[in-house]
Parts: sequence; C-alpha cells; structure tokens
Amino acid sequence: MTQSILVTGGAGFIGSNFVLHWDATEQGLVVNLDKLTYAGNLDNLRDAKRHHFVQGDINDGRLVRKLFESLQPACVIHFAAESHVDRSIAGPGEFIRTNIDGTFTLLEEAKRYWEHMRPDVRSAFRFLHVSTDEVYGSLTPDAPAFTETTRYAPSSPYSASKAAADHLVRAYHHTYGLPTLLTNCSNNYGPFQFPEKLIPLMILNAQSWKPLPVYGDGMNVRDWLFVRDHCEALIRVLKNGQPGETYNIGGNSERSNLEVVRTMCAIIDELRPAPDGASRESLISFVKDRPGHDRRYAINSNKMLVELGWKAKESFETGIRKTVNWYLNNPEWIRTVNSGAYRNWIDSHYSPLTVSSSPQG
Ligand code: NAD
Ligand code: DAU
Repeated sequence: MTQSILVTGGAGFIGSNFVLHWDATEQGLVVNLDKLTYAGNLDNLRDAKRHHFVQGDINDGRLVRKLFESLQPACVIHFAAESHVDRSIAGPGEFIRTNIDGTFTLLEEAKRYWEHMRPDVRSAFRFLHVSTDEVYGSLTPDAPAFTETTRYAPSSPYSASKAAADHLVRAYHHTYGLPTLLTNCSNNYGPFQFPEKLIPLMILNAQSWKPLPVYGDGMNVRDWLFVRDHCEALIRVLKNGQPGETYNIGGNSERSNLEVVRTMCAIIDELRPAPDGASRESLISFVKDRPGHDRRYAINSNKMLVELGWKAKESFETGIRKTVNWYLNNPEWIRTVNSGAYRNWIDSHYSPLTVSSSPQG
C-alpha cells in the first residue's frame, strides 16, 4: 500500500499549490495539518482528490503525535508558518510561536515517530523543511547570489524566526540523525497567493484602478520563482536529496519592484484596456519604506541543477502572464479572500503611510 504524506500549512499559498501538484502527479494520500489562519484557504483545495484535511496547530504536540501514530506518514513537508514580513514587523509574537516553537514541536514528534519506525520504512523517512532566502540577509547590487554556504544574517523578525527554525532542523540532523532536508527558496508567485504580498496586491489594485503602493524608491530586487517550479523542485529534493543537506531554489529572475509593477501594469492594460487608453502605471504611488527593508535577494540554484537535475522552467515573463491571467479569471476566489481580516490589515497598514508620486526614503 502507498504510504500517506504529512503536509503542514497546505491551505496556504505554496502549500495548496503543492498539495494540488502532488495530487495530480504522485501516489498516496496527502494529510494536511493547517490551523487556517487568515492565510489559509480551504477553497484552494477544492479540486484535490486524495487529500485529507485536519484543522490544528503545529504547536499542539498531542495532535501532532496522534497524527504520526495513526497515519504512519512516509515523510513530512513543513510549510506552516507566518510568512509576511510586514506583519512580522507590526507584531512578531505569532512568528516566534509558529515558526520557531511550532517547528520545534514538529521536530520533536517527528523524531519520536522516526525512532520507533519499522527498520524497513525508517530509512526512507524524510522531514523536509521549507525555508526562505531571507535567512541570508541582504545583498549589495553586485554581490554574488546566495549559495548553500552563505552565512546567515536575517534582518526582519520573520527572517530571524525562519533562521532559528532552520538551525533547529540542522541540529536535529546533526545531533539525532533525523533525516532532514532543508530548502531555501526565493520569492514565489502564482495562483492562490494571498493579496497582502506584492504581486497579487498590485494585480488586484491595478485591475480596479486603485493606487499601487511601492515602498521607498522601488529599486529593491527579488528573485522571482513561479510556484509550480518550486513544487517540482520540492518533489525532486524529497525523492533524491541527501539527508542533512540544504538546497537553494531560485527562479533566476531578478527584478526590481518597479520593474515587476510596470510589467504587470502593461499586461493588465493589454488584457483589460481602459476605454480612454489610460495606463495603470499612472497608479504607482511611492509610500514610506519598510523598516529594515532588505535591498536585494538572489539565489544560486547550481546545486539543484548539478545534483538533482532541476532548474526553473518558467521565465518571469511567462510566469507573470500566467499569474495575471489567473487572478483576472478568478473573481470568485478574490471575492472570498476579501474577508474582514484581510481588509482590516490593509486598512491598518496602508492608511498611516504617506502616499506620494515620487520615491520615498
Ligand atoms: P502562507 O502564509 O500563504 O501560508 C501559511 C499556511 O500556514 C496557512 O495556510 C496557515 O493557515 C498555516 N499556518 C500558520 N500558522 C500555523 C500553525 N501554527 N499551525 C498550522 N498551520 C499554520 O505561506 P506561503 O507563502 O505559502 O509559505 C509557505 C512556506 O514557504 C513558509 O514556511 C514560508 O516561510 C516559506 N517561503 C515562502 C516564500 C514565498 O515567496 N511565499 C518564499 C520562501 C519560503
Ligand atoms: O524571499 C522569500 C520571501 O519572499 C518569503 O520568505 C516571504 O514569505 C515572502 O512574503 C516574500 O517576502 P518579501 O518581503 O520579499 O515579499 P513581499 O511580497 O511582501 O514584498 C516583495 C517586495 O515588494 C519587497 O521589496 C517589498 C515590496 N512591497 C511589498 C508590498 C506588500 C512594496 O513595495 N509594496 C507593497 O505593498
């Protein structure tokens, strides 16, 4: 019988794309443990066939233990986290609780389960921890991209909490031999991303002719990765990665925020032209910068290519067109995520920020 897999945070953006991708391409039931915070949306998983949902907190050790004992999963893919940098600046507590304490609870229960597994299945068990390039800190414009040996230098409460979790994962391999896999990836984009993040926020605002709030001078650079490419990379790591190893996953698509926003404006203008020929670019509004805003991230994915034969298939140009199309063609999904919690965040975060048509420091 094919074993089930345990996914945490599978109702979020990357997690739900992963569950759907696994369901379409792999064997075995996906058991999805998710607390359903504001970022979790079960509607994303409507089309998943071999999916069992459990609402719960990764900090609930008793529940996690029960799941391991009853399901006997072949592996864990750990996505659950608080993931939005701005929210971590406004209130770091939940980031500490979920990203650090929650990962610790999961590691403890995974270790306990793994130690008691039958020897024939024990050697195949894996704990895959999904982390971020933000743990490496900020790059200067000409610095080489992050490799797996770049020194950790997190700068926001979010990235610090992810770095702490990464260190715990590494320690559980080094100290106890738990067969962990660690991935650090760059900025994902694609369907089902909650519209607090740059790309969906800008698409939704541009579509309805609302201001496009660009932080600072808009010249911060991110390395954009289409979410399906990320899901394929994770499956590659799960199947062929070496326990204890780290893998950097990037899209090889560095763009400044202004370039990203302008590209999306051009696509939306083309797909939904204004009757008077106006361009959405005129909506760009420079707002006060994010405190401690990292200037540039870039990922060197060479290890993924050389050791696991993976590289991103989607260019930024093809991926962003697919993404804009998806948002424009899924108004019902947008209507359901426009819940009270989301609106409250937008109101409290953007209303005190000064809006201007020139770059802000
Ligand atoms: P997301 O915020 O969209 O989803 C997070 C999910 O975790 C939600 O479904 C939420 O309900 C769930 N969750 C939160 N706290 C929980 C808890 N205590 N117990 C159980 N479930 C809980 O996040 P995402 O963008 O899909 O990111 C997934 C993972 O990938 C995170 O670990 C994030 O750090 C990492 N990551 C994200 C990106 C990106 O660009 N989005 C890039 C690199 C790494
Ligand atoms: O690099 C990986 C990380 O990417 C993940 O670990 C995080 O979970 C994910 O949220 C993302 O972090 P960023 O801070 O890079 O993503 P965000 O979409 O919030 O912002 C992208 C860039 O756009 C960043 O430089 C800030 C800027 N920005 C963002 C928002 C929401 C704006 O200029 N205006 C905005 O309104």
